[in-house]
Amino acid sequence: MKKFITSFLFIVVGATLMAQSLKSPDNNIVLNFKLDGGGSPVYCLDYKGKAVVTESKMGFRLNPTISLSDNFEVVNSSFDTYNETWTPVWGQYKTIRDHHNQMLVCLRQKSTGRLLNIRFRLFNDGLGFRYEFPVQDNLRHFIIKEELTEFRLTGDDKAFWIPADYDTNEFPVTTSRLSEISGLIDHVRKEPLAAKAPAANLAVQTPLMLKTPEGLYVNIHEAALVNFPAMALNVDDRTFCLSAHLTPDKNGNKGYIQTGSVTPWRTIVVSDDARNILASNLILNLNDPCVIKDTSWIKPTKYIGVWWEYFIGAGSTWAYSDNQDVIIGKTDYTKLKPNGHHGANTAHVKEYIDFAAENGFDAVLVEGWNEGWEDNSAYVKDQIYSFTKAYPDFDVQELHRYAEAKGVKIIMHHETTSSVISYERQLNDAFQFMVDNGYNAVKTGYVGPIIPRSEYHDGQWMVNHYNYVAQTAAKYKIMIDSHEAVRPTGLCRTYPNWLAQESARGTEFESFNGNSPDHTTILPFTRLMGGPMDYTPGIFQGDLSVYGNNKAKLSTTLVKQLALYVTMYSPLQMAADLPENYKKFADAFQFIKDVAVDWDDSYILEAEPGDYVTIARKAKGKLEWYIGGITDENSRVATIDLSFLPKGKKYAATIYADGADAGWNTHPQSYTIKKVMVTSQTKLKQKLAPGGGVAISIK
Ligand code: NOJ
Ligand code: CA
Repeated sequence: MKKFITSFLFIVVGATLMAQSLKSPDNNIVLNFKLDGGGSPVYCLDYKGKAVVTESKMGFRLNPTISLSDNFEVVNSSFDTYNETWTPVWGQYKTIRDHHNQMLVCLRQKSTGRLLNIRFRLFNDGLGFRYEFPVQDNLRHFIIKEELTEFRLTGDDKAFWIPADYDTNEFPVTTSRLSEISGLIDHVRKEPLAAKAPAANLAVQTPLMLKTPEGLYVNIHEAALVNFPAMALNVDDRTFCLSAHLTPDKNGNKGYIQTGSVTPWRTIVVSDDARNILASNLILNLNDPCVIKDTSWIKPTKYIGVWWEYFIGAGSTWAYSDNQDVIIGKTDYTKLKPNGHHGANTAHVKEYIDFAAENGFDAVLVEGWNEGWEDNSAYVKDQIYSFTKAYPDFDVQELHRYAEAKGVKIIMHHETTSSVISYERQLNDAFQFMVDNGYNAVKTGYVGPIIPRSEYHDGQWMVNHYNYVAQTAAKYKIMIDSHEAVRPTGLCRTYPNWLAQESARGTEFESFNGNSPDHTTILPFTRLMGGPMDYTPGIFQGDLSVYGNNKAKLSTTLVKQLALYVTMYSPLQMAADLPENYKKFADAFQFIKDVAVDWDDSYILEAEPGDYVTIARKAKGKLEWYIGGITDENSRVATIDLSFLPKGKKYAATIYADGADAGWNTHPQSYTIKKVMVTSQTKLKQKLAPGGGVAISIK
């Protein structure tokens, strides 16, 4: 339903200024736009009468010396309202309502005649705006030197941030005031496990979660990142003005653009209740609808994998041999001496397939199946791997037959080690190889610096690469799970075969002692705002010293690992631990076997970034609900209000709780399981241990 509305247009008489304002459908959020005295576009945003963003600049500097930020006049403004629901292929909700008011402002630069449009969409949960470059006489191909968009905050907010970095998001999240970032950022950047690429000294990544001193929750990110570099935010810690910091290429250019195109949306989600931040669908709503016609082959997936054994120090390797002298296409691997502990060997993979089949998993990820792992850390070769040649001890055809007979899929792995040109050259062959051998999903990986060396992970060139891989995969009916790619911006709506991404510190960092107990209470407010994460939870044996060579200890209790299947939304969920540990704790494992990966509805019951998250979800097409509650390093009592259950019926709930003596660093494996009857009237009070959680299934 589209209807033209003019009631939101106000004309400020006098001067050259024409202020225009737009309200959210519920009138709680107000956007004001105007040209300032120099003809520069500025906007501000209020929530329930409180300023969220004060007068902030917009526009660009183009190459070589074109200013597209001042001397403008408004040539036209038009208003629309939109109110529709759409059905995602998979998701946290069966249907999603897109209800927004829109204002399109068309600007003309008086001195040059150049045109720039700005489109604003105001929803009940926040604002999205983007720039549009109309086809015009005086501008055709151009280079973006700088985007000048500002987000002028009202004070010294609490921020949940990771430092800007053109190549990685795998930092611990720091919680501090904006004014404290400068004193902390160098320390965080030196974090030994993080990759480093130059970024402005005081800049942070998005999604950025903020809490104002007055208790407003504000989240800044972007939607629909297409043919553009990722945006980080410069921080002015005296004025609390954030400004766009686009990822450059190594020539310092940000984007190579042709008119007739649009930028990604800049997004500001805002509420006085933290739960509304997690419930927001604003970023999905700003992405284009699904472009894949037949989506019947796209399936939310629960999987296990030949994976964790590579991280725990038990000896298992991705590489087949210890001979580092290999060249793809020349080395005859059958002549190499095997190292004797290659993980992806046929017999071992069959054990995983058996375990998957016995326990109802859809798939088994197998890493280290293909030629090239021996010298992959050299980062110097053009072609590091073959994506069509398996190691001699990995029998592709036999495993295809075996897995198919057991009703299990094998998930392909394409670690590129960022040899991206080589990957694109092999891509169609690699996908055809997958189709020929029964694979329907691939985990891609981009460890290390990009080849070509002039590019960064988060620059325009790589953004186009990730999108190209998702599009090409769709042609082959292949689902994607990308690791080390640019963080997501809701493109999974347009390409629902792009099931999940990593793009933050996942469980692998538990094996390097790299995650803290509050990590997963923050990620839903930061990284997950852009889309599902392949976090790979489910570690039951958190003391890795039991394997011999790794002293790391998990930052959570065992029960919190269960809760993560609900709190860390993803249609792709791994049970990451070794099968032997699931056999040891079979009763707790039952929750992982039961939990759904696709949902009709989600209820954010409790949430405070950095402290706790409690979420209930209804399984898609079933009268089953799953609840996950997690806390940071502090013990707490969760209040779990079951009023979302249909009224007047009794349901059987199984409660997986931390034991009385449990804690992430004391007795993490202490838990209790009890069954109780519940109704929509029930309010459960559940104690969570330090670093602990609660998981509940209701049938
Ligand atoms: C990093 C990925 O995040 C991890 O899951 C994978 O096992 C390794 N790269 C090797 O590809
Ligand atoms: Ca990673």
